[in-house]
Amino acid sequence: MTEGLVVPMDVPREVAAAPRLPERGTPCTMIILGASGDLARRKLVPALFHLMNDGLLADDFSVVGIGRARMRDGEFRGAMRGALADSHVGASEHSAWNEFAGRLEYIDGDLADEAVYAELRDRLTTIERESVTRNGAVRGRLFYLALPPNAYEPTLTRLSESGLAPRLDDARARPWVRLIIEKPFGRDLVSAQALDGTVSALFAEHQIFRIDHYLGKETVQNLMVFRFANSIFEPVWNRNHIHHVQITAAESVGVEHRAGYYEGAGVVRDMFQNHLLQLLALTAMEPPVAFRADAVRTEKVKVLDAIRPFDADEVARYALAGQYGAGTFEGKPVAGYKEEEGVEKHSMTPTYAAVRLMIDTWRWQGVPFFLRSGKRLPRRATEIAIRFRRPPHLMFPETEGQSISPNVLAFRIQPDEGISLCFEVKVPDHEFRMATAGMNFSYAGSFGPSEHSAYETLLVDCMLGDATLFTRSDAVEAAWRVVDPILDAWDASPPGRFPNYAAGEWGPREAESLIAADGAKWRTP
Ligand code: BG6
Repeated sequence: MTEGLVVPMDVPREVAAAPRLPERGTPCTMIILGASGDLARRKLVPALFHLMNDGLLADDFSVVGIGRARMRDGEFRGAMRGALADSHVGASEHSAWNEFAGRLEYIDGDLADEAVYAELRDRLTTIERESVTRNGAVRGRLFYLALPPNAYEPTLTRLSESGLAPRLDDARARPWVRLIIEKPFGRDLVSAQALDGTVSALFAEHQIFRIDHYLGKETVQNLMVFRFANSIFEPVWNRNHIHHVQITAAESVGVEHRAGYYEGAGVVRDMFQNHLLQLLALTAMEPPVAFRADAVRTEKVKVLDAIRPFDADEVARYALAGQYGAGTFEGKPVAGYKEEEGVEKHSMTPTYAAVRLMIDTWRWQGVPFFLRSGKRLPRRATEIAIRFRRPPHLMFPETEGQSISPNVLAFRIQPDEGISLCFEVKVPDHEFRMATAGMNFSYAGSFGPSEHSAYETLLVDCMLGDATLFTRSDAVEAAWRVVDPILDAWDASPPGRFPNYAAGEWGPREAESLIAADGAKWRTP
């Protein structure tokens, strides 16, 4: 088989010039609960700085961070400037930084302490009054729970009891109050339902934004456009034409400094229950009637509900767990999971999983969906690959070393976002030979580098009250219903002898047998 040919697809200039995030957030104060933590430093503050520089934050926007680290406003600003430098977001422009810094405030304290809420009330009152006096702007309140999951319920309760985050049954009520809740939303179905019980007792659903940052990624949104703004693919998007679907989220990093969280989570709670199942839902859902939050979310949840649940004795056959041992990455030796800082020496936490799921609908009957994700794999790559069926009858002879490769449509979510389609062509010479060629569309090639991170997209959406790319509670619960039997089976009996793959490998060898049983092979993204 010869190398794939690559035919870049051109996009007209006027399309390429179209802005990708045109709307500006409405006036608000964002209260980051857990502001001295990792998420605020690595994702939220860089995203906000970027948005401000692009003119996508309202003039009346500021941040009040609350965290345990003892800092004054000035020290918090210094720490956030360091965070921007670490994230390679240029804060070098003095005037931009000064403008941004002027919008940051900080309260140190424990969220279990009433005094924190009293201080927050004072700060918000001052900020909100100033906005009204200055230009009549009425600010909303956006609470971002960047906290360990066990802090969600008590914090939501205190926010509600303090009156700082009142329930607003009317979605048009102003000033608005919204809350972004980070994943994981619960640690199984029962705890997710309990958390939802608290949330719905305290707030209206339109106030709650359950974030899954994968839904803010460009290609994830483009998947909807690709499927529902084109007419040529939808007719083949079903069991008659698709052999199977592979969804891969490969990470090259290890657990980094997050062992405290990851040891209790593992890859299924960390990546499958949310990101991977959301990708599956977008790939498999029926066309929504409108690009509106509820229409899209309803179709997604139907897919999740239709995933065939595993019986306990099916888990060993259709789900595989792995944990990385010592190995090499980019030529350098790297530690195994058990040797990472903060990880228990005999840890049985899986850092890799591969799962075969079936969706019980007319469209997808008999089409396996293979999902895999792992840490310390050879490279960072997330993709959705649709593998089509072979032609029903082949008129060309398949000989030794000459067989046809089935068509594959692959959505590269990261890095190098794009879409590629592989098909067979005849090699132009006298002898009859076939080769696989590819058409490749690259976002960066056609539109220039992507300017906005997933968090930027989602933060602006929340400021605008658009929940289309956030997860509804029924979807969260449906996803737990899918993964709970796997987690229960692995809790009841260890899923394998760990480590079972070396850092720098594509997961345990058995992953190949899991997919080979359906006559398929994992792609190398
Ligand atoms: C997070 C997980 O939700 O997603 C991390 O908690 C993971 O463990 C990360 O590394 C991957 O996100 P991305 O955007 O880098 O693919």
